This record gives sequence, structure tokens and C-alpha cells, in this order.
Amino acid sequence: MADETILITGANGIVGCELARALVRRSEPPALRLLVRGDAATVEAKAQWLLDWIDAPEPARERIQVLRGDVAREDLGLPPGERARLESEVTGILHAAACTSFSQTAAQGETGNVLGTRNALELAKRCRKLDRFGLVSTAYVAGTRRGEIDEDDLEVEAGFCNEYERSKARAELEGRKAAAAGLPVATYRLGVVVGRLSDGHISRMSGVYPVWRIFHRGLMAMIPGDEAQAVDLIPSDYAAAAIAHLFGPAFRAGANYHVCAGADRSLTLGELLPAVADCIEDAAPGWKAKGYPEPASVDGATFASFADTVELVAHVSLRATVRQMRLFTEQLDYPKRFSIERFERDLAGSGLELPHAREWLGTMIAHGVHSDWRAQGWEAAAYG
Ligand SMILES: NC(=O)c1ccc[n+]([C@@H]2O[C@H](COP(=O)([O-])OP(=O)(O)OC[C@H]3O[C@@H](n4cnc5c(N)ncnc54)[C@H](OP(=O)(O)O)[C@@H]3O)[C@@H](O)[C@H]2O)c1
Repeated sequence: MADETILITGANGIVGCELARALVRRSEPPALRLLVRGDAATVEAKAQWLLDWIDAPEPARERIQVLRGDVAREDLGLPPGERARLESEVTGILHAAACTSFSQTAAQGETGNVLGTRNALELAKRCRKLDRFGLVSTAYVAGTRRGEIDEDDLEVEAGFCNEYERSKARAELEGRKAAAAGLPVATYRLGVVVGRLSDGHISRMSGVYPVWRIFHRGLMAMIPGDEAQAVDLIPSDYAAAAIAHLFGPAFRAGANYHVCAGADRSLTLGELLPAVADCIEDAAPGWKAKGYPEPASVDGATFASFADTVELVAHVSLRATVRQMRLFTEQLDYPKRFSIERFERDLAGSGLELPHAREWLGTMIAHGVHSDWRAQGWEAAAYG
């Protein structure tokens, strides 16, 4: 394992930076090639931030290189010499670069996610020592399906809440085509990623964080969705350690995983709302005394008509708030349970154990409240 060289794309993203942190903490850490995009100054700022975030123990630190590239471009936009070096040394690729905006257009999804994945797979095919390719994906490729979702399910013609989900499903299809042609591809579908179990830190507060921020501000009048559904949140360090295990000793070409907490370790939507309120109160004593109304749980149609009314009449900041809520909460209209059977089976022996969400939700909320919902990504480090 010590001769491994792993290329991580999207290395400065929420997931990419935790994957790098997890890999350098292995007893025999691999050499890392961390691909980030931007002009020279941006890449330099990202590299400095990333090395701090990863905080690699000494021998591993010397084996990390940050590369400038763009997965949407052929050969990941790498200069020929760099590309040739990767082709000769890389043993594994973890493809975590993605366009993750829920409001992306179909064209952005096609370029950032489908073409980006195809380009990463093309590079993998030319890496002479490569014995594994990990495609980081989302459990929400299940789109508007309801009920039990199997780890192998993939329906690219199914309905989707947004172009993010559709393009990630199409990206998985690219992975399956490459696997069918003999490339050792495994797919890791994440639930909703939140901060680290250890301290709640997270590099970007996207996903559920804008909803929690709105809740904290007392602006959340209602939330759509069936209260009985599990909300599958997964801490970023646990998710990264699990992927590092599945991409390491437990690697299985062709396997698809729901890297999710699972319903038994998740709070339902009905439990989550009061639990978040309790955690905010713990982090900011006196918050409940402000008398903000508890958000009412409503069906999707009621929420949509509220959002439409806000579009017509409301102040610009309330419109922005409701739009942000709508982007995240649309999925709640399609209750589902992600099967984690294979994930749990292949993780056995890793020593990893995820406690129930009620045990660590407070860590995530406290970090959000105390940082005033400001993340600690490279942008904060570079621009304050
Ligand atoms: N966070 C979650 O809750 C969650 C849940 C389920 C699945 N996932 C999956 O996890 C993976 C990583 O997501 P994330 O949460 O880490 O998202 P993120 O924080 O938005 O990070 C995405 C990373 O990809 C980079 N990137 C985007 N387009 C690129 C391009 N053309 N070339 C090179 N780099 C590019 C971004 O660079 P910039 O910094 O320059 O934008 C960023 O570093 C994705 O596959 C996503 O679908 C995440």
C-alpha cells in the first residue's frame, strides 16, 4: 500500500479535503495528487489552505502535491508533462470534483458532472498502474423515487428534483460503462454531508446548512415533507474514513455503496426540527425565549404555493431565503430509505462505528451557531 499514489479531484471541496485528511492518517499513507481548479493565484491560495486543513503528519506531508487542473477539459486541463507523470505513477483516482449547485442548469451539469467524470475515467484508462477508480456520488441520484432504494439502483430516465441529481445519475452511468469495459470502478453515494464528528468543522456550509441558518434566524415558517421520513445526515470525517477503507483494503471493483447513516441512525424530519431547536438553545442560551414560531410541517404543494406568493410580494432577502429553503427541501417531498446493506457489510472490520444522529447533531449546530454560519474554506482563509 505504501507505493500507492492517489489522485483526488475536487480536493478543496467539502468531501475532497476530508478524503485527503483520512488518507494521510492511514498507517501507510499514499502519495497524494490533489487537483484543484483556478488561476495560478487561486490554486496557490487553495493549496495553502488545503495543506493546513489536511494537517498531514510529517512523512505524509512531503508526498502531497497540489495540481492545477479542470476536469471539464480534456486530460483534466493538465500540461502534457504533468499528465504523462500521472499516467506513470497514479494507482488510484478518487473523483470528487463536481458541480454541486442545486440550481445548476442542464448544460452546467453536463459539463461539470457528466463530461468531468468521462474525462477522469479517460485519464484512469491511461494510468498504467491504476487498480482502482472511486466515483464519489450522491444517494439522491434516486431523484423523485420513493421508498426503499437499493445500492445498485440507477434509473437515468427517472424524475429528478434538479439538474444536479440528473447529471450525477448520468455521471454514474459513465462510471458503469467504463466498469463494463474493464476499468475497476466503485461508486460511493453519499447522504447529506455535515461537519466532522470530532469538532463540527466543515469547509463549506452548503446543503442543509442554509436551512439550519434560516432556522436559527427565526425565519423558517414552514418545512415541507412527511414527518416520518428519515433525514440521512452523515458526518464528513466518518464518510471520508469509510470511503478510505472501501477504497483501500476493502476495495471491490464494480461495487456501489450508499455511504449513508441509514434510517436506524437518523432522526426523522419530525424529530429533527425540535432537536435542532434544542441544539440551538444549548449553543445560544436564551434563543428560545425570543419566541420564534416552531416551523410547521406542511405538504409540498402548500410549501410551493407559499414560495410562489413570496416570489410575488416579498422583500428580496425573504425571497432569497425561501428560494434557498426550496432547493434543499424539495427532496423531502419524496421520502425514501437508502439501503446500506453492502456498505455495512464491507465496512465490517474497519472499526468504524457511527453513533445515532441525536448524539452528534449538537456538535454540528454548535459549530454553525458559534461561527455565525460562516465556513472555513479556502475563500475565508484567502479573503477573510
Ligand atoms: N456535500 C454533500 O452533502 C454531498 C452529498 C452527497 C454527495 N456529495 C458528492 O460529493 C462530491 C463532492 O462534493 P462536495 O460536497 O465536496 O462539493 P463541493 O464542496 O462543491 O466541492 C466540489 C469540488 O469540485 C471542484 N470542481 C468543480 N468543478 C470542477 C472542475 N471543472 N474542475 C476541477 N474541479 C472542479 C470544486 O472546485 P471549486 O472549489 O473551484 O468550486 C470543489 O473543489 C460530489 O460528487 C457530490 O455529488 C456531496
